[in-house]
Amino acid sequence: MSCCFFGDRKKGHDLVHHDTRDAGGDSIASTKNFSFNELRLATNNFHQINKIGRGGFGTVYKGTLKQGKDVAVKTLAAESRQGLREFLTEIETISNVKHPNLVEIIGCCADGNNRILVYEYLENRSLDRALFGSRTSIKLEWEKRTTICLGTARGLAYLHEELVPHIVHRDIKASNILLDKDYTPKIGDFGLAKLFPDNITHISTKIAGTTGYLAPEYVLGGQLTMKADVYSFGVLILEAVSGKSSSSRIWQGDKRSLLEWSWRLYQEEKLLELVDEELDEFPEREVVRYIKTALFCTQANANRRPMMSQVIEMLSRDIQLNEKELTPPGFFEDSEGSVQSRLKISRGNTSQQSSVHITITQVTPR
Ligand SMILES: Nc1ncnc2c1ncn2[C@@H]1O[C@H](COP(=O)(O)OP(=O)(O)OP(=O)(O)O)[C@@H](O)[C@H]1O
Ligand SMILES: [Mg+2]
Repeated sequence: MSCCFFGDRKKGHDLVHHDTRDAGGDSIASTKNFSFNELRLATNNFHQINKIGRGGFGTVYKGTLKQGKDVAVKTLAAESRQGLREFLTEIETISNVKHPNLVEIIGCCADGNNRILVYEYLENRSLDRALFGSRTSIKLEWEKRTTICLGTARGLAYLHEELVPHIVHRDIKASNILLDKDYTPKIGDFGLAKLFPDNITHISTKIAGTTGYLAPEYVLGGQLTMKADVYSFGVLILEAVSGKSSSSRIWQGDKRSLLEWSWRLYQEEKLLELVDEELDEFPEREVVRYIKTALFCTQANANRRPMMSQVIEMLSRDIQLNEKELTPPGFFEDSEGSVQSRLKISRGNTSQQSSVHITITQVTPR
């Protein structure tokens, strides 16, 4: 069994198998190569109106191919302008990863200096818009939220446990969960970190922007295992239940983070207070089981977190979770714009909680 951490070339976990074929064209069998012109036409010359978002990797446009198929066109930022052969080889690797809960890569463009990825277009866009955006547009009732959590768990279990070599996503968060017209979730951006050279530019952006999802051992020591994804998935469940973003500015004062607040409510046996007020009806036992599963996923000690296949069981079956095994969560938090960040790990049992603060000054590259 082997495990691959994207972008972690120095440690020898590299996925790259050096392709000896001509990297210029049709030799990359399963991946369609688009010309820059084709994509320019598809996106109305990358028009502002077609722009649907911008993330750490680059800008995303909605496009329509000649045949009428809608696509999402992601123009990768300058840091990703690595060698043509390596780019195409890596695209080939991630294009071959297919699962109903993973976004499909349709093709790419490596024309001149341009590095562009073409994905299937998901009508309901990303989960962050559905959960935290304007509430008038999309109503996410409890059943839809369970479909989204379970489907995401299945996609992750596939990346972690079925695929060889395994893939650690490293960036599980609501904006990377795309929703099709039936709200089937599809994990996006898996493997994208691999397309970036080893530098800290992107992860620095991430740490500023999405601290709420990062497992403490990853931030502090760069220990990247699939349990870091399990941690982020746990945070995602809490967001799906509460309708609140873990990286929102509302987390201050006595509610220092979504996870910390959830843990406190657990200790006080008031877990239902976490539930999104937009939810009119919900099955209480199931909701509580979801929150407790999230707490299992976010435990400070990565070894105690379940595997994703276990998480699927915990979410989908009406079972009693063994709470004697549950230990407090670990938190990583930004100290308000400062370069330094603090890692806070809760210690103690469920009735008593103390914490340690460790100051770190450097972040391990993704
Ligand atoms: N395949 C797609 N179908 C529909 N919308 C998409 C698709 N891919 C991305 N988007 C939209 O584009 C936005 C930006 O995506 P992008 O992946 O660039 O940024 P992000 O997810 O916010 O951050 P990150 O760089 O960490 O992935 C998403 O939030 C989503 O709304
Ligand atoms: Mg994304």
